[in-house]
Amino acid sequence: MQAVRFHTYGDSKVLVLEEAPRPQVDEGEVLIRVRAAGVNPLDWKVRDGHLEGRMGHRLPLIPGWDVSGVVEELGPKVTSFKIGDEVYGLLDFRLDGAYAEYVAAPVENLAIRPKAIDMIKAGAVPLASLTAWQTLFDVAGLESGQTVLIHAAAGGVGHLAVQFAKWKNTKVIATASAYNEDFLKDLGADELVDYNTTRFEGVVQDVDVVLDTLGGDTRERSWQVLKKGGILVTTLSISPEETAQQHGVRGKGMMVHPDAAQLTQIAALIDSGDIKPSVTTILPLAEAARAHELSQTGHMRGKIVLKVGD
Ligand SMILES: NC(=O)c1ccc[n+]([C@@H]2O[C@H](COP(=O)([O-])OP(=O)(O)OC[C@H]3O[C@@H](n4cnc5c(N)ncnc54)[C@H](OP(=O)(O)O)[C@@H]3O)[C@@H](O)[C@H]2O)c1
Repeated sequence: MQAVRFHTYGDSKVLVLEEAPRPQVDEGEVLIRVRAAGVNPLDWKVRDGHLEGRMGHRLPLIPGWDVSGVVEELGPKVTSFKIGDEVYGLLDFRLDGAYAEYVAAPVENLAIRPKAIDMIKAGAVPLASLTAWQTLFDVAGLESGQTVLIHAAAGGVGHLAVQFAKWKNTKVIATASAYNEDFLKDLGADELVDYNTTRFEGVVQDVDVVLDTLGGDTRERSWQVLKKGGILVTTLSISPEETAQQHGVRGKGMMVHPDAAQLTQIAALIDSGDIKPSVTTILPLAEAARAHELSQTGHMRGKIVLKVGD
């Protein structure tokens, strides 16, 4: 099969489109004919060697752990899907990903894709939506009536978090550049803080939950906007519990994990029109390097996705 792989860690030029072995399906797995692979910052963080030794990767590696596609083959003991099902899901980060014509995946990582968006856009949804969902609901325990500050609200995770938080009837304060104001207001954000002109800690206070996907100075300035007992959840590596205690609040790190039941629920919210994923860039598989370069700017709106096949 055709796949994009890298044989050494490095910049986007290490990505090559080439022939690679078609994966075998094991017990409990299905073979997916890939239609789209979502692009996430994780893809280039793995590619550039930033995470070398931490995830057990062996090179050459096919990156891309977001997938949508059609079930082409069933492994032994698979009963929950049938051949021809259109699925989307989050793959195992330790193994080959979906920048390829085929990928094998355990059924627990997959769900039937939403129908209100096309198959290509569906491929952009799993990782970012599960991150937003698990951060807000599983880790922070966000409840109706609360206030949440969502940093990088126009990004892949952020724009879905804004919509989940509104669906939960909370007040949403978003940080982004002014360029994204209309986009975020349309998604339901109640207030926007333009990080280029305004320090958010000067205008935001007493929030229940902060979603931090930026870290660094943004995270350090976020502790002071939380109300007593509030919680900051970060998607970046360190668990900030000690720092949080010094500020009299709670802090947690999170790592997204596959969850088929959550993907089914998210698909239903997309189909009901409550959640509208924004896919702003669709590129062919052969342009994976360009997709990485765009993601690495750190200023893309919504999601980037690679289209596989015709
Ligand atoms: N732990 C996990 O399981 C997990 C899961 C998913 C993601 N992550 C990590 O979370 C981070 C975010 O992921 P993502 O997919 O959402 O990234 P992304 O889509 O690349 O985020 C881009 C967005 O960041 C915004 N941004 C950049 N600097 C900003 C600032 N100073 N203040 C406010 N907004 C700013 C940009 O808005 P403007 O154009 O307006 O600047 C842009 O819309 C990445 O580091 C990723 O690796 C971790």
